[in-house]
Amino acid sequence: MDKKKVIVSERIAEEGITLLKKYLEVDYREGISREELLAIIDQYDALIVRSVTKVDEELLQKASRLKVVGRAGNGIDNINVDVCTRHGILVANTPDSNTISAAEQTISLLLSSCRNTAWANSYLKRGTWDRKPFRGIELYGKTAGIVGLGRIGSMVATRLKAFNMKVIAYDPYISDQRFTRYGTEKKATLEELMQEADFITVHTPRNEETMHMIDEKMLSLAKNGVRVVNCARGGIIKETALLAALKSGKVASAGLDVFEKEPAINNPLFEFNQVVGTPHLGADTFEAQKRVGENIAEQVIMALKGDIVPNVVNLPTMLTEELQYLKPYITLAEKMGSIYYQTEKAPVGQIELTYSGPITRNETEILTIAFLKGLLHPVMDEKVNYINARLMAEDREIKVYERKEEQSPKRYKNLITARVKNNGHQLDVAGTLSRARQPLLVEINGYETEANLEGYVIMVENQDRPRVIGPFTTALGDKGVNIASMKVARKVKGETAIMLVNIDNQANDEVLERLGAIDGILNRPRLLKF
Ligand code: NAD
Ligand code: MLT
Repeated sequence: MDKKKVIVSERIAEEGITLLKKYLEVDYREGISREELLAIIDQYDALIVRSVTKVDEELLQKASRLKVVGRAGNGIDNINVDVCTRHGILVANTPDSNTISAAEQTISLLLSSCRNTAWANSYLKRGTWDRKPFRGIELYGKTAGIVGLGRIGSMVATRLKAFNMKVIAYDPYISDQRFTRYGTEKKATLEELMQEADFITVHTPRNEETMHMIDEKMLSLAKNGVRVVNCARGGIIKETALLAALKSGKVASAGLDVFEKEPAINNPLFEFNQVVGTPHLGADTFEAQKRVGENIAEQVIMALKGDIVPNVVNLPTMLTEELQYLKPYITLAEKMGSIYYQTEKAPVGQIELTYSGPITRNETEILTIAFLKGLLHPVMDEKVNYINARLMAEDREIKVYERKEEQSPKRYKNLITARVKNNGHQLDVAGTLSRARQPLLVEINGYETEANLEGYVIMVENQDRPRVIGPFTTALGDKGVNIASMKVARKVKGETAIMLVNIDNQANDEVLERLGAIDGILNRPRLLKF
């Protein structure tokens, strides 16, 4: 079979390329032009980018084979994740692989700008020995303000504590415990942080809310002689406002790794001696690039194999261990979802999912996505996947409700219960894992049963009386269909019962017709495939 194809449009570590080549056909096209990428993207199953390649609607419209976009790095502001999701394209990044390097670069820019290191260095190398212009300031005893106390912000906080600084932080999206854990004092507003800090460093993503969040108004609140660092994304500190504040002396120095327009050439900020700039080098260490390259290669390979990928941006985030634990439940939910359209020929209006037992301590959103994928697969085939299942359900105006309960109501420790509804049609199913951690259907429309959700299963209603099951199994045997296991269930003695029969080989239409004609069988048996 032909190998799947990946195009790598920006520089990644050799280790990553070597790994990709083991499994895929690799086109390493560092710096490929936009025009050329647009012209050839339809040949690839995967695309690996860093921060320069724009993965937007125009590119994605042409990317007819694309299944995965790998971001070798952290920020995803160059990728239109919503459009990827709509196209069912998985987006993965490597958020933890370069955080240490970015945090260290932040400290380096802070120290360098406070001690005029880069400026003094350029003097010295030009043959001037002078100390007067370069007198700096200490960090010791001063207050650092961190905006965004996520992965990098928190690492910066712990490092700044080692300089005996007071660290304050503003991040409206994290718990109070996180501020305490990193030895920071929480500030309820950005204004408060601006007023109190001697140094300000930003570590948020760039988005509509954070673009230009430190503007003229915010800088006017700051202490005179405040020092700023941006090692996150260009524009979080508005460049024109910074320029004016440097001119007026409001801002004493700036350390900048990122710029509103990159590559940043002739940026007016470079005219200031008190600005230290680097060309987006936050993640550029040997260690980080090796980790990033290998990590993104692994994830792209996993995605193309259909394995569950750890850092998917357009799926709920989970730890690897959590994912491993949930994996068989994901399979269970998907198989349960697939039952509806195999038994009913009517559109779905509403789905109620209940997760019961210790499983609820985990990210159950992925189970709901799996259920929806399973539900829609029989009617949409390959067009639906984990990435777009929720959107596809929304498009079909299917309402989805989820509930969690700590205790399972049944004897099974963990239980997934689903009610799929539409006018006049309803399907109730409940499932769990067998001792061998295989998916097991334990209830269907109020009948308690136990059927392995594996291979082919015949489902049929019958009268609960003698001389029905015997002729039924004999008829299967006569047609060469072997029964692997079978469960008969009823609600009331002597009324309607249900049979779920796991068979080893497919029963064709003729067999199903024949089974349906047996006296006491109440409807044409349905053959479910799992
Ligand atoms: P993260 O997602 O772990 O943390 C971001 C934090 O910002 C979160 O805690 C979030 O709650 C907070 N936040 C979001 N909006 C906010 C707002 N309006 N006000 C205050 N806080 C807000 O991200 P991270 O991994 O720490 O990365 C931080 C930034 O660094 C990103 O922009 C990333 O792209 C960038 N980065 C740059 C380099 C580089 O080479 N310079 C390298 C790696 C990461
Ligand atoms: C990132 O977001 O990871 C950084 O911008 C690093 C990079 O891609 O160079």
